[in-house]
Amino acid sequence: MKKIILTGDRPTGNLHLGHYVGSLKNRVKLQEEGNYDEMYVFIADIQALTDNFKNPKKVRDNILEVVIDYLSVGLDPSKVTIFIQSMVPELCELTMYYMNLVTLSRLERNPTVKSEIKQKEFGNSIPVGFLNYPISQTADITAFNANIIPVGDDQLPMIEQAREIVRSFNSIYGETLVEPEAMIPDSKVCRRLPGTDGKAKMSKSLGNCIYLKDDSDTVKKKVMSMYTDPNHLKVEDPGNTKDNPVFIYLEALATDEHFKKYLNEYKNLNELKAHYEKGGLGDVKVKRFLYDVIEDILTPIREKRKYYEDNIKLVYDILKEGSIKAEKEAANTLKNVKRAMSIDYFN
Ligand code: TRP
Repeated sequence: MKKIILTGDRPTGNLHLGHYVGSLKNRVKLQEEGNYDEMYVFIADIQALTDNFKNPKKVRDNILEVVIDYLSVGLDPSKVTIFIQSMVPELCELTMYYMNLVTLSRLERNPTVKSEIKQKEFGNSIPVGFLNYPISQTADITAFNANIIPVGDDQLPMIEQAREIVRSFNSIYGETLVEPEAMIPDSKVCRRLPGTDGKAKMSKSLGNCIYLKDDSDTVKKKVMSMYTDPNHLKVEDPGNTKDNPVFIYLEALATDEHFKKYLNEYKNLNELKAHYEKGGLGDVKVKRFLYDVIEDILTPIREKRKYYEDNIKLVYDILKEGSIKAEKEAANTLKNVKRAMSIDYFN
């Protein structure tokens, strides 16, 4: 079977370290390993509009921001098709046909949708488009016959719902669509990075993110004011590394090479942790190291960002070319879908 990788992001803000460890790093790794037939990464603007329909400018502006984030971390348009969701209108048509295969109550039971509805305080006024987005996401996936979907664990219910739709379609209309599988990071710390304030998740609305485009001073300020172990008051006190976001970030980001380069009195993170837990290691020292590690990662990303910011036309060309290629593929799937449903009247 062909290996087709597909994943996307909503253009609602810049990408941050949570995206980096949870997904972007892995995408670049997959790209470099090259063990796939096709790889698609796309900007889900239709989906972003489902809860930002009153704010199209925000969505429009962030398309460029997210693509530049992609290119800056090393996604390579010669290896990966990068496209904009709404430039592939076939996705909407597929969504329409899949809508018949899903009940309202099934959508309302989707755990991710459920918690988003609560969070957005829709009450009894849930926009149909919003509730429908898991179906639209199924169109995104199936239009490209994608079977490997690298996502964070909050997206597992979406992939499950997509699998159900595929099975239902295939059983009614005959074997047509490919059942996708989620790929989540092996490392638990990478699946959900906490915020700099210690809250469960880095999230733009909570203002607790370190963005890939943050400059050195901003990163320094954010790291030096990070939440740590509130009971670790004096350097001599034994500290907790487990619920401590500074150590969680190090777990997700620091390599033994980083220790060699910036903190060579310790061989690795285990040694640093042991010292902190025993007592005698101050937060400032650990935070300085974390800052060095993050800077080591972000410096080359910032350089690439600068290049693309100075060459915006190139960025648009990449998007345009990717969208044309994606549309061709989606049109082919749509043709198969319509044939399976016997609504290909003039053939
Ligand atoms: N729902 C995803 C998010 O919020 C974005 C997305 C849309 C997506 N369509 C997709 C991810 C298809 C993977 C596959 O980040």
